[in-house]
Amino acid sequence: MKLFGDERDWFFHSRLGMFVHWGLYALPAWHEQLLWRGSMKRADYEPLMHSFNPTAYDPDTWLDLCESAHMDSVVFTAKHHDGFCMYDTAYSDYKITNTPYGRDVLDMLANACARRNVKLGIYYSLPDWHHKNYPNQGRHHEMFGPRPGDEPDEERYLEYVRNQVVELCTRYGTIWQFFWDVNVAGFDDPSINETLRRLHPQMVINDRGPGPGDYDTPERKLPESMSYSRPTQACQSLGRQSWGYREREDYYTVRFMMESIARTLCLGGNYLLNVGPCADGSIAEPYKKAFAAIGDWYARVGEAFRDTLPASHLLQSSPSGGSWVMKDEALMTRRGNTLYACLCAPPQTCGFSLRPLTVRPSRITLLNDGREIDGSVELIPWLWTEKPYLHLFNLPVEEFASEVMVVRMEMDDAVI
Ligand code: GLC
Repeated sequence: MKLFGDERDWFFHSRLGMFVHWGLYALPAWHEQLLWRGSMKRADYEPLMHSFNPTAYDPDTWLDLCESAHMDSVVFTAKHHDGFCMYDTAYSDYKITNTPYGRDVLDMLANACARRNVKLGIYYSLPDWHHKNYPNQGRHHEMFGPRPGDEPDEERYLEYVRNQVVELCTRYGTIWQFFWDVNVAGFDDPSINETLRRLHPQMVINDRGPGPGDYDTPERKLPESMSYSRPTQACQSLGRQSWGYREREDYYTVRFMMESIARTLCLGGNYLLNVGPCADGSIAEPYKKAFAAIGDWYARVGEAFRDTLPASHLLQSSPSGGSWVMKDEALMTRRGNTLYACLCAPPQTCGFSLRPLTVRPSRITLLNDGREIDGSVELIPWLWTEKPYLHLFNLPVEEFASEVMVVRMEMDDAVI
């Protein structure tokens, strides 16, 4: 994949990041789109701001979570679809500093990020269910048409957006990433991104805004192709139902998350994993446990993803599950002649023939625990008319059933 070739290239080395969805919606703890999916009335939702008092908020505990999972960036919801501003904007009264808490939570987070060398990014929703000028027309992620008192006016709304994004990019130190969300209205004003680029030449801007962005943002889906053609950061929440904190959340298993992360990273994409803090600012136990488990795994296998290139094209998988590696069972990365095979899908067998590789590695190591793995180049009975291929065997698949296993193969001879 082509690099940007400028200050934005940090993006290709920052493989894991933490997404944070936090706002008034953490109080009812149902879903961040309660006003839309839950048909809650604006008159009932907006007064939640008078009860928002996150006394347990401490950005350092958030960054502890982030670092526990080996993440080096955080993207924060400065304004979600509800229009509530989680920072001290000069352009709206519907904001965090007018809650009983009264403090600018983004400012606190930005200071902690600067102190701890974590890259801060901003999430900003284009749909706005509060601002009277947003042209709500009942499209997806919109209110069902303007409500009493609204004055739909695209130009005035965009003026509000321009003012806010400049505020966000001038008041909180270095902003590394700008994450626009759902441009349902089809706003087209590339000058906004150009302004942001002038303010922060190192900033990467996503593909959901009012102008061309730098990177793609596949959401909640496992990649289907063997590599990404554009810079990519996939995003996924630990909860299947919601991004904001949800009381009865269906959390994904850690094995599923590892698979989703490994598949994305093997294809050359980055990964943004979401946490939804509670209304009081604390982080619920399931997030802490999952982030720690992912971090523990990543500490052992992460070298397969650091400064490596996607290499799954070196493998031919068996489409129907034959006698060699099955379709999508293993994906590969490489650094020179060191290859890494990630057993993404739960393995069906304790061995794999890595067709069409014919080079025997000088050393084969299971990164999960550092043990050596057996391997040889041998004829496979099912492919007896073909050549001998590299065969890994006796893998401790039962022992590592709850993890994605990653095998490092150091080759003496060049692998083309
Ligand atoms: C979707 C959702 C939104 C969430 C976002 C994260 O656009 O509408 O609630 O913030 O995905 O990427």
